[in-house]
Amino acid sequence: MASPLLCLAAAALAVVAVLVSTTEAWRATPPPLPVLPIPSAPQLKWQCREVIMFFHFGMNTFTDSEWGTGSEDPSLFRPAGLNATQWMDAARAAGASLVILVAKHHDGFCLWPSEYTAHSVRASPWRGGRGDVVREFVDAARARGVDAGLYLSPWDRHDERYGEEVAYNEYYEAQLHELLTGYGSVSEIWFDGAKGKNATNMTYHFQEWFQTVKQLQRSINIFSDDGPDVRWVGDEKGYAGTTCWSTVNRSMITIGEAGIEKATHWVPPECDVSIRTGWFWHKNETAKPLSQLLEIYYNSVGRNCVLLLNAPPNSTGLVEDADIARLREFGAAVATIFGTDLAAGSERGAGFAARNVLDGRDDTYWAPTGEDGRRNGYWIELRLRRPGPGAQAFNVVRIQEHVALGQRVERHAVYVDGAPAFHGDSSIAPQSVPPPNLVATRESAEEAHAPGKDGSGETTAPFISKDESAAAGGLRAAAARVQMHLNPRLAARWWCWSWSSTL
Ligand SMILES: *[C@@H]1O[C@H](CO)[C@@H](O)[C@H](O)[C@H]1NC(C)=O
Ligand SMILES: *[C@@H]1O[C@H](CO)[C@@H](O)[C@H](O)[C@H]1NC(C)=O
Ligand SMILES: *[C@@H]1O[C@H](CO)[C@@H](O)[C@H](O)[C@H]1NC(C)=O
Ligand SMILES: *[C@@H]1O[C@H](CO)[C@@H](O)[C@H](O)[C@H]1NC(C)=O
Ligand SMILES: *[C@@H]1O[C@H](CO)[C@@H](O)[C@H](O)[C@H]1NC(C)=O
Ligand SMILES: *[C@@H]1O[C@H](CO)[C@@H](O)[C@H](O)[C@H]1NC(C)=O
Repeated sequence: MASPLLCLAAAALAVVAVLVSTTEAWRATPPPLPVLPIPSAPQLKWQCREVIMFFHFGMNTFTDSEWGTGSEDPSLFRPAGLNATQWMDAARAAGASLVILVAKHHDGFCLWPSEYTAHSVRASPWRGGRGDVVREFVDAARARGVDAGLYLSPWDRHDERYGEEVAYNEYYEAQLHELLTGYGSVSEIWFDGAKGKNATNMTYHFQEWFQTVKQLQRSINIFSDDGPDVRWVGDEKGYAGTTCWSTVNRSMITIGEAGIEKATHWVPPECDVSIRTGWFWHKNETAKPLSQLLEIYYNSVGRNCVLLLNAPPNSTGLVEDADIARLREFGAAVATIFGTDLAAGSERGAGFAARNVLDGRDDTYWAPTGEDGRRNGYWIELRLRRPGPGAQAFNVVRIQEHVALGQRVERHAVYVDGAPAFHGDSSIAPQSVPPPNLVATRESAEEAHAPGKDGSGETTAPFISKDESAAAGGLRAAAARVQMHLNPRLAARWWCWSWSSTL
């Protein structure tokens, strides 16, 4: 390897030892310059959440459908045992710190007693017509220390004003106002672009809606197909593309695009997917197996997205026990996979020292002082114990970028014992991309890697096998050295990152 900028020397007994830099990387230096665009504080907080949850609940729960017609009788809505606290326990089991409730789906039935329509919980027998699911939801979230978000469908198949541009937009805006003033802090608002092919024509006043939202809730993130704060990844499978920039040119954004380097706006994508087949609860459906949920995790969180996982409460008003158990398995698996940082154990330091890559914190990072790696990138090498008895085995590598200062790493390659194991590319088309289920990105360019059984770098053995043996702790690789090569974008003066690898 050509003059590694950094190298991690092995300590006799420790898993990984001390990072040694060929330069005085940890002398006092100012932070790197930001590369615009950078995330807003609410966006950065949102990206660090990694996994958030969706609750699709409403008239469809009682009619066994996904898209209601709008003509449902409100008396059908009677969730006898609704307990939003139980929903929060489901969310926390999955490790989610933000929960989003569908307050009104396309059928127009409102889960709160809106002053602007009769088609709501007020007309239902539930809690004698005095119930408010949105209230119970946000109260339960707060009590459990989870942030709340709301979904309000623009497409409304019930309301007679739908199709009358001014009247309907005013109605919608009034409901936004109700939801964003009556229920405390709302962290995310969801504008769904879904609409039936032959639905009535209707122009939505998105710009006015967005302005209203921001004026009422300053630290909210607005989701829609194209932002402004969070954009749709473009599918409902929970998979992002292998190239996935947080940056886009908003003026010409297309749904589901990979994002572009050197763009004008920071609009990270969100991957929405249900743990079941449908978004709403159906008696005949069950939760996806853990292996599939983990594969989704690697292809969403692992590719620079936030994963929005839907768990539909049933007609009793509870998330099924089996679904909660699955979410608990999922949360535990993610915590276990990233629970042991094999690279940990080096000394810690302040500033921007190389050893900051190993301190397990999001707010510290390494930044090279020189520009010598600017053209060809930088190498970092971690020396682990020799293979053989007592070898250091691992099957995931996580690489992250300190994106508070912008997204700059455009390429990376991982070598295990000198053999190329994996590479990824942030900036060009997904031909040269990693096999599925190997990638894990957090704030930005993070990779989870599954080398072959013998550490040869073959990527044929996926970390998560269909039989879920990985969840039982199956190990796939042992290695002496892990080397990573990262290319910053050429125009950038600085880049920085942190990483961890785990069993
Ligand atoms: C609601 O669910 C929570 C959490 O499962 C539980 O502790 C609580 O007792 C339930 N409340 C009622 C009224 O059943
Ligand atoms: C579209 O319109 C046709 C004819 O009116 C109707 O049969 C069909 O159900 C409609 N499709 C949807 C998705 O509403
Ligand atoms: C919606 O408007 C478009 C363009 O004006 C028109 O072609 C289409 O027929 C309209 N659809 C309905 C359902 O009115
Ligand atoms: C994005 O916008 C920037 C700044 O206006 C421009 O230089 C760049 O060419 C645009 N990129 C694409 C792919 O349109
Ligand atoms: C379950 O039932 C619903 C409604 O009857 C149906 O739309 C859906 O396709 C079924 N799901 C499966 C997995 O068969
Ligand atoms: C809803 O889920 C709860 C918890 O598993 C269960 O006790 C209840 O019977 C379920 N309701 C229906 C209608 O299946």
